[in-house]
Amino acid sequence: MMRAFKQKIKDQEVSPCLVDTFGRKHNYLRISLTERCNFRCQYCMPEEGVTLSPKANLLTTSEVINISSLFVRLGVTKIRFTGGEPLIRKDLKDIIKSVSQLNGLHTVGMTTNGLVLYRQIKELKDAGLNALNISLDSLIPAKFEFIARIKGLNKVMKSIDAALEGGFDPVKINCVVMKGINDDELVPFVKLTEHKNLDVRFIEYSPFGGNNWKDNKMVPYIEMVTKIKAEFPELQRLKDLPNDTSKAYKVPGFKGQIGFITSMTENFCGSCNRLRITADGNLKVCLFGTEEISLRDALRQNMSEDAVLNMISSAVLSKKKQHAGMFNLSKMKNRPMILIGG
Ligand SMILES: C[S@@+](CC[C@H](N)C(=O)[O-])C[C@H]1O[C@@H](n2cnc3c(N)ncnc32)[C@H](O)[C@@H]1O
Ligand code: SF4
Repeated sequence: MMRAFKQKIKDQEVSPCLVDTFGRKHNYLRISLTERCNFRCQYCMPEEGVTLSPKANLLTTSEVINISSLFVRLGVTKIRFTGGEPLIRKDLKDIIKSVSQLNGLHTVGMTTNGLVLYRQIKELKDAGLNALNISLDSLIPAKFEFIARIKGLNKVMKSIDAALEGGFDPVKINCVVMKGINDDELVPFVKLTEHKNLDVRFIEYSPFGGNNWKDNKMVPYIEMVTKIKAEFPELQRLKDLPNDTSKAYKVPGFKGQIGFITSMTENFCGSCNRLRITADGNLKVCLFGTEEISLRDALRQNMSEDAVLNMISSAVLSKKKQHAGMFNLSKMKNRPMILIGG
């Protein structure tokens, strides 16, 4: 078994230790760089806040780079940095610079709330960042502030324009849709794609620790499409790429496109290729699953590479066929989203 792991590592294919019992090959890794955030979004950060891990428990710059390097040798071709808010990490540029040089990695992405992105966009691109998601849930300043619990719409819009000007093509926009809060803004969001190469992805609101999720606050994908079609009857379904989490659509003639992330009503677990590392160094094989193993401890205990590969393999093999469904998930214990990283 171990020889097979290593053979695949050498050949730059997905190592068998990243393949689960359902044949899913995990070549996409999301790494959370921090538990901190300058926003306190209602759907992500519990109202009372979260207990932050002591700094010593968080992955250091070199640990993030070493874990990235290990997974790229195992066949990961895409890494996305997330958080908390990744732009809070002072070493972000250095991490991106090192990770983007890993042989075999073709995408280095980041998901950010965009509050301070416009100040750093050029240096991050120069460092090797080549995919960008910016979260934006309302185009109305007061509502933006109500959701994020802080003002900032102008700055996020400035960052979106800076990213487009900086050559990110497209810029993906993540919009979590909540009934009675921002579901009246679907059409204005679609209109953002008329002249700009944006890919606005409407995300079904999902239950995580402490976010007070209720099924009647979640707007199902089909309902969103119906509302948008009332304004744009010509809305066209596009072909999805393999492993896409988003169901892609476009208003013909518009520069950008839209999509729907239907984690609750039509899960895409069957084609899941994602693994996650939390800021405190735990490997999580499913966003909605509770199982975790500490890669940080394994690295700090100087475990042999074979032992670490065995740990990763066991975790991947334990991955379930699909998540438990929204009603069960809302009753299960999971980390608050801010401590996972999306
Ligand atoms: C946890 S955030 C971290 C990165 C960054 N701070 C940001 O907001 O983009 C990553 C993504 O998770 C999404 N997210 C957070 N809580 C969610 C929830 N309850 N349901 C669906 N998506 C959620 C956010 O909208 C964001 O796009
Ligand atoms: S969604 Fe992003 S910006 Fe909002 S609280 Fe969570 S981590 Fe912060």
